[in-house]
Amino acid sequence: MEGNKNITELGKILGYALVIMFAFVGFTKFGIPLVIPEAPPVEEKITGAMTKEQFVAMGDKIFHGKGTCTLCHSPVGGRAPLLDGVATRAPERIKDPRYKGKAKSGEEYIRESMMEPSAYVVAGFGKPGTNDSVSPMPQINKGSIGLSDVEINSVIAYFQNAGGIPVTVPLPTGAAPAPAAGGAEAAAPKPAATAAEAFNKFGCVTCHKVPGVEEAGELGPDLTKVAKLAGSRKPGYSAQEYVIESILKPNAYVVKGFDPDIMPGDLGDKITMSEMNLIVNALLGKK
Ligand code: HEC
Ligand code: HEC
Repeated sequence: MEGNKNITELGKILGYALVIMFAFVGFTKFGIPLVIPEAPPVEEKITGAMTKEQFVAMGDKIFHGKGTCTLCHSPVGGRAPLLDGVATRAPERIKDPRYKGKAKSGEEYIRESMMEPSAYVVAGFGKPGTNDSVSPMPQINKGSIGLSDVEINSVIAYFQNAGGIPVTVPLPTGAAPAPAAGGAEAAAPKPAATAAEAFNKFGCVTCHKVPGVEEAGELGPDLTKVAKLAGSRKPGYSAQEYVIESILKPNAYVVKGFDPDIMPGDLGDKITMSEMNLIVNALLGKK
């Protein structure tokens, strides 16, 4: 199986290599381009009643997929606290003298952490310069992540189950089928058609301010300014080459004032050629 998979992937790379040779002279610096069509992300469909096990499994998928949580909550980089024990520590959080939110239970604390991240900022993880009063985490019920109430509950169920404590969130009963946020389509997702779609799809907006998108993340540099800077970042690199490398190998050049390992290093495995084109052109202010 593994061998077959490798052959298919090689085929994809070779298929794209030709296009890339013409479209992106810049790729020659990085050897064989890693830009291949992405595997379809799993969209969560909420259908009727669910058992606890099904609801926990749904939360697991959302946490590791569409919620984009692991962009930050992962062992690499230490950019956000690990959430393995969050359900068990939640009741302690609300007793902390620094706590200024409204939660009365562990369940409410977790929900509030997701919807109003600045209600309580875990010490040492606040936005730089705010003395841990402002969280860099986006509100995950808004903007490009846009989880529905049911999806948020499923993530809480996943945390509670992982922590070995009772699941207290209501399970979907099927009485009122909840619409999946973001219009979960059954069809395989198409590559992004516009730069704004691509910026949302790959979570760029979670960490960056990008041209043409109002939502603005603050973990990474403001990319509305990168067009001016890109050409002089690395000797011997054109602006285009620099931007492509920044996306495929974020640690190759670490912008001053920011930490390495924060930006995901596997974007090259997911992004398609056309999406890369859209992103690079938008960042460099080209049509
Ligand atoms: C852009 C980075 C980022 C993303 C994406 C993100 N978080 Fe966070 N999260 C943080 C940071 C940083 C903190 C610590 C600061 C704070 O308390 O808000 C945090 C804190 C939390 C906490 C409180 C942890 C505690 O120990 O009290 C929970 C719960 C949480 N996040 C859940 C989630 C879930 C669920 C998702 C996905 C739906 C998510 N986060 C997506 C950065 C992120
Ligand atoms: C989890 C947060 C995160 C995500 C998601 C993310 N980045 Fe970044 N990015 C960073 C950080 C932090 C830096 C600065 C450190 C460095 O240079 O690696 C950075 C640096 C960059 C730079 C170099 C900027 C400069 O001024 O030189 C570019 C270009 C860039 N990112 C593009 C993107 C694009 C495009 C996406 C989406 C496809 C993306 N990033 C997704 C965090 C992120």
